Amino acid sequence: MERKPILVVSTGAGVSAESGISTFRDAGGLWENYPVMQVASADGFARDPELVHRFYNERRKQLINVQPNDAHKALAELEKDYDVYIITQNVDDLHERAGSSNVLHLHGELMKIRSIIHPDYVETLDVDHLETTPATRGKNGDPMRPHIVFFQEPVPNIEKAVELVRQADIFVVIGTSLVVYPAAGLIQFVRPGTPIYYIDPNPAATPGIADVTVIKATATEGMRELEKILLSE
Ligand code: OAD
Repeated sequence: MERKPILVVSTGAGVSAESGISTFRDAGGLWENYPVMQVASADGFARDPELVHRFYNERRKQLINVQPNDAHKALAELEKDYDVYIITQNVDDLHERAGSSNVLHLHGELMKIRSIIHPDYVETLDVDHLETTPATRGKNGDPMRPHIVFFQEPVPNIEKAVELVRQADIFVVIGTSLVVYPAAGLIQFVRPGTPIYYIDPNPAATPGIADVTVIKATATEGMRELEKILLSE
């Protein structure tokens, strides 16, 4: 059997914007309303863990009330014709809920918490009991922290992500300002000659990267356009 082409997709907050989750750096974005180094850094968590838990609990309550949008769904649909690997900077679970099978989270997962003393011990929060289950204590009694990669911490999945990008036959970037490294640098690992598509209504510059087709559109519109392009190939 002929192998399916490998389509690697790198997503950022913009892919979830049309589901109603705010991005970080757009006007009205999360980092305009919250001091990023207080709520999303290792130092901030050490200084005031309660504030950080509260911040992520709010994000969780928001997440359980939103749904995957047509861009998440279109990416899941592409699995019919492509081996699709999603590398996401997002901590939401909307790609999984839309049906994507291979999702690699670079910055952690909102619905998970992990032990501060046993870093391999991870629990998934029970969506139905978010209000009553404190995210600060594990079922085994351990003190817990959000399963989020804070600023100042390494990104454990970056090597896996680089490996995937190196294998891509087609590389797609959706809804990221390309300012946070190492995620923003993934595009550098695409093999020469691989077509790259970048969907974003306000795309960042990608100097020195060949073969980028910019689709200046929202994620859902841009995915429709991408589907047409892929069909015509
Ligand atoms: P940003 O908020 O930096 O960028 C969001 C991007 O989405 C921008 O380029 C927007 O133009 C674009 N956008 C807005 N609406 C869109 C739509 N409807 N469809 C498609 N794109 C749209 O978010 P990220 O680049 O994802 O990390 O941010 C990277 C990391 O910074 C996050 O993972 C987070 C943050 O600090 C952590 O918290 C660890």
